[in-house]
Amino acid sequence: MSDAHQEALEYAKKNRERFLADLKEIVAIPSVSMQDEHRDDILRAAEWLAARLTGLGMENVQVLATKKHPVVFGEWKGAGENAPTVLIYGHYDVQPVDPLNLWDTNPYDAVQKGDLLFGRGTSDMKGQAIATMSAVESIIRTSGLPVNVKWLFEGEEEMGSPSMEAFLPEHKDLLAADFCLNPDAGMIAPDKPTITYGLRGLAYFDVFVWGPDHDLHSGLYGGTVHNPAQALIELVAGMHDEKGGIILPGFYDSVRPVSAEEHADMEKLPQNEAFYKKQTGVPELWGEPDYLPVERVGARPTLEVNGILSGYTGEGSKTVLPAKAMAKLSCRLVPDQDPHEVHKQVVQYMEENAPKSIQWEVKLLNAAPTAITDRDLPAIQSMARAMEMVWGNSPLFKREGGSIPVVAYLQDILGAESILCGSGLPEDNVHAPNERMHLPTWYKFINALIHFFYDLK
Ligand code: BES
Ligand code: MN
Repeated sequence: MSDAHQEALEYAKKNRERFLADLKEIVAIPSVSMQDEHRDDILRAAEWLAARLTGLGMENVQVLATKKHPVVFGEWKGAGENAPTVLIYGHYDVQPVDPLNLWDTNPYDAVQKGDLLFGRGTSDMKGQAIATMSAVESIIRTSGLPVNVKWLFEGEEEMGSPSMEAFLPEHKDLLAADFCLNPDAGMIAPDKPTITYGLRGLAYFDVFVWGPDHDLHSGLYGGTVHNPAQALIELVAGMHDEKGGIILPGFYDSVRPVSAEEHADMEKLPQNEAFYKKQTGVPELWGEPDYLPVERVGARPTLEVNGILSGYTGEGSKTVLPAKAMAKLSCRLVPDQDPHEVHKQVVQYMEENAPKSIQWEVKLLNAAPTAITDRDLPAIQSMARAMEMVWGNSPLFKREGGSIPVVAYLQDILGAESILCGSGLPEDNVHAPNERMHLPTWYKFINALIHFFYDLK
């Protein structure tokens, strides 16, 4: 390790408290992308990042408009044309905090308790975004960056990145890079550094069912009118078979089978049945019996009920036959499924199965493509070596069940592969109350990023 490299690590160690203070500052901005009431907070978060990039000595820092929420850009080209250019991706938006009453602390006031920092976005992914800036700062303030960097911070990842497909082609030259560093994935455990090479896609729907034109007395009309709540439940229940398979027409036609080799690799991962039971607290797992749990999460598609709404759920026993019902359904998709095809399949299922006694509508809310990244990319080997230097063991490679739409768009539009990594842990409560981040792992991740930039040179 060179002196300069060592100095950068020293700098990171000395500045830990300030890096943490930075993170607390951005967590305090409630940048919830899918709720209109937070529009100003989104803009404030974008401005905060732009100021931080400027402070880092980045050039050409811009807050670029999109159809929805802005993208923050900045670059540093001082390493010269022969050095690689890394596009560093992050998203500054977060998921809603509801249900707020289940939080033990204020979600926008990051609170440290022992090794954990609690707050919305600490793990997904303001923490990792700050980690990239902290690593780059540590190198810049000591010897100087050995590579060129560009930053792409988006503000609508948590709503499915609806603007990115149009935004990227319009800024192709500005964003051109050799590959993308994407720290929006995570790790299997604090002692198990992980590189993610696959992400699922998503198709998210609102399904509405209408029955009578107003709520009815269940005694006067029950038995003559099909209850919309019941009709919706019947339709939704009919979308799965008893083994957990999905019965939408043609749903599995384009599902790429898992090779025997990949299956064998997945069998070696520590995420066995006991792991999933421990993480979730369920008495028994559920799902396609012919696949490993980790395979069902990473390489098989699903259909979930995210929410269901109808009728009276307050105190006491109101005898009502509700006029309408709705459910939020989503499918996690795997290569080579297409979210727009799945939308057609849901509509076809409804056409074939909905009873004449109700009216219905299916609305596609968001669509995210699936992604598989190139495991043989030299920069992936750089990341693997960097992680090994910090943790003492080489990373595990896994396919993740979550989605990051930009990964496929970067492949298709910019021809850039992504290195998917991160310091988030399975127990971080991402998207849930009491989201948290494990600080010792975060500091290690900052060091791994410093090693990574030196290894790329
Ligand atoms: N960071 C997550 C996705 C993720 C989590 C990838 C863990 C790998 C490991 C990301 O912010 C996320 O939650 N994405 C949404 C996207 C969706 C709205 C299209 C998701 O997966 O629900
Ligand atoms: Mn997320």
